Amino acid sequence: MGSTEAPVSTPNPGVQTVAANGSSCLAGTKSVEAKGFKGHDMLAPFTPGWKSTSLEPVVIEKSEGCYVYDNHGTKYLDTIAGLWCTSLGGNEPRLIEAATAQLNKLPFYHNFCNRVTIPSLDLAKELLDMFTAKKMGKVFFTNSGSEANDTQVKLVRYYFNALGKPNKKKFIAQTKSFHGTTVASASLSGLMHLHYKFDLPIPNVLHSDCPHYWRYHLPGESEEEFSSRLADNLEKLILKEEPDTVAAFIAEPVMGASGVFLPPETYFEKIQAVLKKYDILFIADEVVTAFARLGTMFGCDKYNIQPDLVSLAKALSSAYIPIGAVIVSQEISEVINRQSTQIGTFAHGCTFSGHPVACAVALETLKIYKERNIVERVQAISKRFQDGIKAFSDSPIIGEIRGTGLIIGVDFTKNKSPNDVFPYKWGVGGIFVSECAKRGMIVHEPIGDCTTLSPALIISEEEIEQIIQIFGEALKSTEKQVEQLQSQNTAT
Ligand SMILES: Cc1ncc(COP(=O)(O)O)c(C=O)c1O
Repeated sequence: MGSTEAPVSTPNPGVQTVAANGSSCLAGTKSVEAKGFKGHDMLAPFTPGWKSTSLEPVVIEKSEGCYVYDNHGTKYLDTIAGLWCTSLGGNEPRLIEAATAQLNKLPFYHNFCNRVTIPSLDLAKELLDMFTAKKMGKVFFTNSGSEANDTQVKLVRYYFNALGKPNKKKFIAQTKSFHGTTVASASLSGLMHLHYKFDLPIPNVLHSDCPHYWRYHLPGESEEEFSSRLADNLEKLILKEEPDTVAAFIAEPVMGASGVFLPPETYFEKIQAVLKKYDILFIADEVVTAFARLGTMFGCDKYNIQPDLVSLAKALSSAYIPIGAVIVSQEISEVINRQSTQIGTFAHGCTFSGHPVACAVALETLKIYKERNIVERVQAISKRFQDGIKAFSDSPIIGEIRGTGLIIGVDFTKNKSPNDVFPYKWGVGGIFVSECAKRGMIVHEPIGDCTTLSPALIISEEEIEQIIQIFGEALKSTEKQVEQLQSQNTAT
């Protein structure tokens, strides 16, 4: 089963998708008929070649609320809502109706050359009304989060060129951040394996400190002191590069895909002060955090971020249909309008930017969030979710459990220390993920020895109890296996 030389794989955007025995974390829980899908025809994202040729893929066939079913009928409680995106669960009839009605009326028309469609206009207005951290100006539609962040790079370049500041070209992103996989968004991402072998990053992308306090604080350093040090480092980097060359800083309010890193106390306050001092734009990548994931409608609300640009995708349509968006500040929109009046067309956009069916589904999604008071709902149920999972923090194999709202990251290490990691070949994160799968629960494929949970926002109290119970059972079993590995290791 490809176990011996199980190479590093790169899920979203993690490292390892194999359990200690080399099996896939979900596959292996079910025996597969000889005639399966092994060696299928798809060049699959974040899947190593050996895996698609040697292992049966897990074929997900149906979804229902917070559950998904594979092609053998096995039911899984999906605690990551697809990829942090099916916020309204797997079978919301209103979204299907919204898509069907729009398909019947106008399945497609573009938004180029001053021709527009009503759903795209309505959605732009709705997003501007909903985003209240700062009064924003316009919305540009994309098809994904990656495309939104590529658009950010182009908008920032266009803006500073229009202002007659063509030297302001550099972008600063955080180490370990994830902003997508297209050329510019992968470059912004602070993860080496997204760059390696792709000739990335593109020029003019720099990476500053990762704000994960547990992993990177100095002995005796408080969260506030840690934030001050990171803000100082950012300022030093800007001064070294020359402020007139630095255009924008991009950050996720909570870093999601790398393992759920919450900003330390006062982090965004201090970072924003530095950016303001040097006339550097703030791009908030809210692809994961927008639409109540953190218990506020946007991550910017939670951390008092006053962004110039915002990236959205995922829960914008509850993932029923691909759509992303960029919310643009009034200042930037005005400059872009002015410039394109002078030089001709604003030459950016894709055939499907603001696709009417995607916009209709997104509009209905936002309507449901409002009707169901989704922010209050997440606030009400997330306490038990956070407390229940964090209660396992004392486990000898858990280094840190962190989270807020309906998002949690779990690091498996020894002695509560980020530096005391388990041997890579043990695949402790993978063992835990497999143990969850055996019990009918999907958590995020391991990123090193870290996993994450971010269930649909419609998760019920009973389902939260179920998550906590399975988490506990899978953890106990993982602890036992780690004990065995430890004793084998001492014996040899
Ligand atoms: C913060 C963040 N930005 C951007 C992206 C890229 O979004 P997409 O996969 O829709 O291109 C992701 C995907 O997980 C993300 O987590």
